[in-house]
Formats: sequence, C-alpha cells, structure tokens
Amino acid sequence: MNSFKTIEWKDDRVLMIDQRKLPGEEVYVECTTFEEVAECIRKLVIRGAPAIGIAAAMGMALGAAGIGNDCSYENFEERMKAISDHLALTRPTAVNLFWAIARMNRLISKCRGKEIEEIKNLLITEAINIQKEDIETCMQIGENGSKLIRENSVILTHCNAGGLATAGYGTALGVIRSAFNQGKNISVISSETRPVLQGARLTTWELERDGIPVRLITDSMAGHLMSKGIVNSVVVGADRVASNGDTANKIGTYSLSVLAKHHGIPFYVAAPTSTIDTECLSGEDIIIEQREPEEVTHIDGKRISAEVTAINPAFDITPAENIECLITEVGLFKKPYTKSLGRLKKKDQ
Ligand code: MRU
Repeated sequence: MNSFKTIEWKDDRVLMIDQRKLPGEEVYVECTTFEEVAECIRKLVIRGAPAIGIAAAMGMALGAAGIGNDCSYENFEERMKAISDHLALTRPTAVNLFWAIARMNRLISKCRGKEIEEIKNLLITEAINIQKEDIETCMQIGENGSKLIRENSVILTHCNAGGLATAGYGTALGVIRSAFNQGKNISVISSETRPVLQGARLTTWELERDGIPVRLITDSMAGHLMSKGIVNSVVVGADRVASNGDTANKIGTYSLSVLAKHHGIPFYVAAPTSTIDTECLSGEDIIIEQREPEEVTHIDGKRISAEVTAINPAFDITPAENIECLITEVGLFKKPYTKSLGRLKKKDQ
C-alpha cells in the first residue's frame, strides 16, 4: 500500500492530499463542511472517479454532521437532498460521484424512524466503508488484470488511475502494481496528460515511490513508440462505462485506443463495477465535462499561447470496439459488451 493518504476521515474532518500541488509539495487540505469538499472536487484537489465518489460520500457525512439532532426526519431528509444536489453539481462525467451519493441516500431512506444522531453516525460509517471497499476492489482488479500482463512488458498508461485516484491502490495502476508485486519484470510509460498533467505529476510520483520503473513521454510521442514496437499493452482507467462498453476517460484516451488498434496492441480498461453505468446505453449519452480554457492557454498561471481562447473537454469516449477487455473486481468482461455487461445488470437487480 501507499505511504500517502489520498483521503481520510479524521476527527469529524476530511483530509485530502492536495493533488494540485504534487509532486512539488505534499500537503493536506482539511475540510469541515460539505461545501469545502465540493470545492475540492471541483478544483481537482481530489480527482479520479473512485476518489471523487469517496469524497462526495464523506462530504455528505460532513453535511449531515452540521444538522442539529433535534431536526425531524423529514427535515433531515430534505436538507440531505440539498447537500446531495450541491455535491452532484461538481463534476458531471465520473459516475462514481453519483453512485456514492445514491448509496448514501439509500441508507438515509432506510433510516426513517431512527434518531438523527444515529443516522449521522451511520452515514460516517458508510462513507468510511465506501473507502475501505475501494481498496479491496482495486486489489481484486489488480489481481484479475495482472494475468493479462506478460513478463518483460512495457505498459503505457494515461492520466492517473492510481492510488491518488482511488482510496490508495488504483485501477490501471492497481493492475501494474499487482503484476510488479508478483515479481514480473515490467516497466511503465506514463503519458503526461495535457492539460492538467496527471500523468506527469501524479502517475510518475506514485510509481516512483513504489519503485516501479516508469518513464515519462509527452502525449504526442505515443504513436511513434507504438510504431517502434516499444509498447506491449495499454492500461487505462475509466470515469464511466456505458452498457455497450463505450468508455469515458481522460482526454487523449480515445486517440491512444485508435493508435493501439492500428498497431495491434491490446488496450485494456480497468475499473470497478461502480464505474459501469448500466442505465447509460452508449458513449453518446455520457456528458463530457468542459473545463476552463485557462487550463490549456496557461501553465502555472503564465500564458503559453497568443491571446486566444481554447477548447478544453476533460474527457473523451473510447468506442467499445477498441477495448480488448474490461478489467473489474468481479472478473474480465469481453466483447460483445452489451451481452457481457448485461449479465452484470441482471445481477444488480
Ligand atoms: O480529471 P480527472 O483527473 O479526475 O480524470 C481522471 C481520469 O480520467 C481517470 O483515468 C479515471 O477517473 C479513472 S481513476 C481510477
């Protein structure tokens, strides 16, 4: 496990490592209100689909803690609905945010008739459980996915789907961690992931701390390296997987999938089942977050372009046909995804 804590519930506060400052500074932000948690999600203090879900759940627990114990159940439920709506408005693409909020709200619905103080404590426990379960889930994703990683492989990953994007182990990096821990001789190529540089700043930081060999490339170098036979597989995370297998992940993932297909390199998506949106039919239905143009036109507050605006979609959609296999905690899903993921839908009901 990692020596850093992505997020932690401590003495009725939520602590998060400030991912905007990594790798230069390792500092923790403390939140005492749900509004502060929402702001941290919006501003990318915490990011990565599963980590956003954990933060939202802890944000709801913080919000509940701010409600008086003399409140009626109806009033409590109404106030928690407003808190949920506030947290849900932070980022639109990662389904784990909505999944975690819905799970917390299901618990509230089951608590009618209980003392408000007890409900508040149960919400804290539920948020902490979501976090604990994520570690186990990611370790299982790692175990399942590691079977696909051959000895002596060079694995390309994009963005950060690691410990920083989850409760601590990672999805795509979970697969890499597990393969490495099994003693496989592997190394990683991390694409820098413009404009927020999650690959350069976060993935290299956490892999280097674990002693996993990693080299950094700019996003535009991937095709060249693939054409030279230097990349053996691509493993990425996901923000939302539609029921037909179309996958939203960090901008640039789609291009990598097209390149991988062209060069006959297996392209894997590693994600927990909480990232699979069985209600969503295809990638067409996934909302892509558009972020501020300044993330593209500026670096460290300094303009790098002429006085123009920029287009800044934070995610793109990788069509299901480009994905060799989806690695989850319950096993590997293969094409056709509508059929394989359909079984998951039935299990959920
Ligand atoms: O904008 P971000 O940094 O939240 O985007 C993160 C990603 O795209 C990750 O690949 C995804 O959330 C999976 S994290 C296990």
